[in-house]
Amino acid sequence: MGYKIQNSDIDILKKSGVLEDDIKHCIKVAEKALEIAQRTDDNVNMELIGRGALFHDLGKATTHEIEHGKIGAEMGKRLGLSQAITDIMEKHIRGGLTEDEARELGLPVKDYTLKTLEERIVIYADRLVDIIMDGVVPVKTETEAEERFEEILNDYPKYGKNEKTLKRYLGYHREIQGLINR
Ligand SMILES: [Fe+2]
Repeated sequence: MGYKIQNSDIDILKKSGVLEDDIKHCIKVAEKALEIAQRTDDNVNMELIGRGALFHDLGKATTHEIEHGKIGAEMGKRLGLSQAITDIMEKHIRGGLTEDEARELGLPVKDYTLKTLEERIVIYADRLVDIIMDGVVPVKTETEAEERFEEILNDYPKYGKNEKTLKRYLGYHREIQGLINR
């Protein structure tokens, strides 16, 4: 059955110093990721998706810079979160960087590419929630954000970032929509 977001986990975000707006974002991403996971009807680990999404921006307690993924993962390890969860936290930046991209961005050089469907669902939900909540693109419904995902990412550099990142997100979108619509 479905996994429920735990209040005790939200308390961990609060106690760690994550600001209210960022906590709202984390909860929304967790809800969206769980909803999408349900719709794919795939045999995925719902707890990993719910908790990975909820904690993905834990590092924003310290910084909103690109290092928040790495810092969040370190904080998560100290809190005793599983490797699978801290992997999501570390790898969510730009949808899963290659070693070369990590080097260019000055992050620890390693492979951050996404290996599991759970990781890809969380990262896809994160991007969708940004589109839905930012108000930069006028979308009337959450469904519209999914339907216009490709167009929005192509048209708004804020979401597509660059060619490599754009390609990754479009890949997750197509894969996950393909599972939903099979
Ligand atoms: Fe983030």
